[in-house]
Amino acid sequence: MKEPEAAAAELIIPDGGFWPAPAIVQPNIYPMEWRVETQKLADIYQKSKRMAWNPADLPWDELRAEDFTVQQRLGIMYWFSVLANFDASGPAVFARATIHAFEQHEEDPVRKCFFSITRDEMNHEECCQRSIAEVWPGGPLDWQPRTELEKAAHNNISWLYHNGGRYWNGYNKAVGKYSLPVLFTSFMMGEMAASTLFRGMASGTKHPVFAGMFSRIGRDESRHLQICMTILENEWPGLTDDTKSLITRQLRAGFIFLSMILWEPPPGFWDLPPYFLHNHRILMGHARDAGLGVLSYEEQAENWRVAMARVRAIVTRWGIEFPAIPELDIDGVDVADDIDPEDIIPVF
Ligand SMILES: [Fe+2]
Ligand SMILES: [Fe+2]
Repeated sequence: MKEPEAAAAELIIPDGGFWPAPAIVQPNIYPMEWRVETQKLADIYQKSKRMAWNPADLPWDELRAEDFTVQQRLGIMYWFSVLANFDASGPAVFARATIHAFEQHEEDPVRKCFFSITRDEMNHEECCQRSIAEVWPGGPLDWQPRTELEKAAHNNISWLYHNGGRYWNGYNKAVGKYSLPVLFTSFMMGEMAASTLFRGMASGTKHPVFAGMFSRIGRDESRHLQICMTILENEWPGLTDDTKSLITRQLRAGFIFLSMILWEPPPGFWDLPPYFLHNHRILMGHARDAGLGVLSYEEQAENWRVAMARVRAIVTRWGIEFPAIPELDIDGVDVADDIDPEDIIPVF
């Protein structure tokens, strides 16, 4: 018998050369590769790791349920339940986008940046979880409402998540259906909305737990926005007219979807009972009263208007028309408002 070393020393070279391996049917995550085309994205990914933070390290013992009235506690739980409709979908949304980026063989920094957004969104989701657990055990839905106000909150949250579920079904289809620029313009709008929201909340709250939470989340969201912008700068040149008009529609869809947390939900897309908005305002009022940092209706509208104006400035640079947003006195192209849940992509 031959020694193993001796066997290894002699290569087997078949007559006629090595056999080519079968081609891997795409999309597939194989073959493995680490192509870097956009150094800036690689740098952002490294920065995201250095800026890591842990929600468990916020001063949670300073968030005491007994410091609030029952209505205020319910208001806080309600606000975080509404936020969770967006931020708690983030981990699954970006995990799927990460897998998609691997299957499409996007350059390595794109995949890594998506992974870092997934990581960050899991922290944001944990903030919703922890805040709710402190003030309203069993929230959002696993508790027995007793008063009229509690029943209204419980019912509104169920309706909200019914809509979140429609969005998720649409998103699952959108990932394979839309090109990268369409997906990313929607992501970009979501990140613009999120960074605007948390900047406003961080300046509005007086509570140390929420102040620390909102400023950190706001920083993450600004980095997500930077990631989307960097990817879009690669993707935007050479868009077809069809893609451009699809993006215009997506921007209007994004406005309708994200207004639920940034401001108030306009009609279109949202499938809600007629009393929803009225009760929503009362519950948001209790959250505001609790010192969470929820801005006034007018302040929210102003922030949202400024954020939309930024998105508008960005996309018009690339020859994409901005949709009319009469709700905020922003003029632009009219887009039919029969927004299908399958058309909605924006996330936080
Ligand atoms: Fe985000
Ligand atoms: Fe987030």
